[in-house]
Amino acid sequence: MIVLGVESSCDETGFALYDTERGLLSHALHSQVAMHEEYGGVVPELASRDHIRRAIPLLDEVLKRADLPASNIDAIAYTQGPGLAGALLVGSSVACSLALALDKPVLGVHHLEGHLLSPLLASERPEFPFLALLVSGGHTQLMRVDGVGSYTLLGETLDDAAGEAFDKSAKLLGLGYPGGPAISRLAEFGDPTAYTLPRPMLHSKDFNFSFSGLKTAVLTVVKNHEEKVIANICEQDKANIARGFVDAIVDVLTAKCVSAMKHTGLKRLVIAGGVGANKQLRESLNAAAAKRKFKVYYPELEFCTDNGAMIAFAGAMRLERNPALAQRDYAFTVRPR
Ligand code: KG4
Ligand code: ZN
Repeated sequence: MIVLGVESSCDETGFALYDTERGLLSHALHSQVAMHEEYGGVVPELASRDHIRRAIPLLDEVLKRADLPASNIDAIAYTQGPGLAGALLVGSSVACSLALALDKPVLGVHHLEGHLLSPLLASERPEFPFLALLVSGGHTQLMRVDGVGSYTLLGETLDDAAGEAFDKSAKLLGLGYPGGPAISRLAEFGDPTAYTLPRPMLHSKDFNFSFSGLKTAVLTVVKNHEEKVIANICEQDKANIARGFVDAIVDVLTAKCVSAMKHTGLKRLVIAGGVGANKQLRESLNAAAAKRKFKVYYPELEFCTDNGAMIAFAGAMRLERNPALAQRDYAFTVRPR
C-alpha cells in the first residue's frame, strides 16, 4: 500500500510517499521559517497562504522523486490537528480534493501520532512497547506506547511546552525565531556555573512538567543584570544565561524520563518532536541511558521537526491495522485543538 502524507499544521509544508513494503519512497518539505522570522513568530494568515503556494509543487516533487504516477497512490493521509486552523484547512482540502479526483480513500491523522511514530522511520527502529517523550513547540508529554494506536498518557506540561520555553527564552535573549536551535548553539559557549536556573517540578512525584517559570527566570536574570537590557549584555554573558536555561530544561526532561522508565519498567525510550533535535538533550539522555541500561531512539534529524513522512507513515500504519478507517466521504473537518 502506498500512502501519500500531507502535513501543514504550522509553518512547514510537507509531502511524502510511504510504501508499506518498500518503506519511505520520497519526501519533500518547505519550511516557512525565513518568512516568519522578521515577525518573531508564526503569522497564521501568512502560513496558510504559503501552504497554498507550496502544496502542488511539493506534490509534484514527491511523485517525481519516487518516479510514480499519482494513480499509484492507494490512500492519502493528512494532518487533521492539532495546529493552526487555517494552515490545517489547506493541507486537508488539498488532500481531500486530490483523493476525490483520484478516487482514493483519505484519512485524517493526529499530528502528535505522526511525531510519536517518527522514530520508526529510522534505520534503527524501536520495538513496542516503549516510553515516548514528545517534545515539540506545542506539546510536552510522556507516553507509554504499546503499539500503533495504543497510547497511555503518563504526564504532560501544565503550562508551556518545552519548545515554547526554548522559543520564548531565546526571544528574551534577542535571538531569532525559532529560538530552540539558536539558544542551544549559544549555550555551547556558556559557563555552566555562571547562572543556575530553577528546575521546575524536578522532584514532583508525577510525570508532569511546568516550563513557564523557567522563561520567567530568564527574564528575571536579564532584568537584574547590571546592563538591564539584553542588547547591552555582552555575548559571553548571553551565552552564560543560555547555558543556564538549557542545562535546567535538559535536567528536568532527563530526570522525568529516567523516573518514568523506572516506574514503567520499560527498556526503550523514544524521543520525538522538534526539541528532540537538541544536542544537549541527546547527550544527557544518552548518558542516563548508558548508566541505567536502557536504550534511547531518536527520529532521523530531518524527521524531528514537522514533515510529511511521519504523517504518511502514521496513516499507513493505521490503515494497515484497520482498513475500515479509509474514508470516501470527502467532507472534512480540522481539529486545531
Ligand atoms: O515538532 P515541531 O517541529 O513542531 C511542533 O509540532 O510544534 O517542533 C518545533 C519546536 C520549536 O519550538 C523549536 O524551537 C524546537 O522545536 N526545536 C528545538 C531544536 N530544533 C527545533 N529546540 C531545541 N533545540 C533544537 N535543536
Ligand atoms: Zn510538530
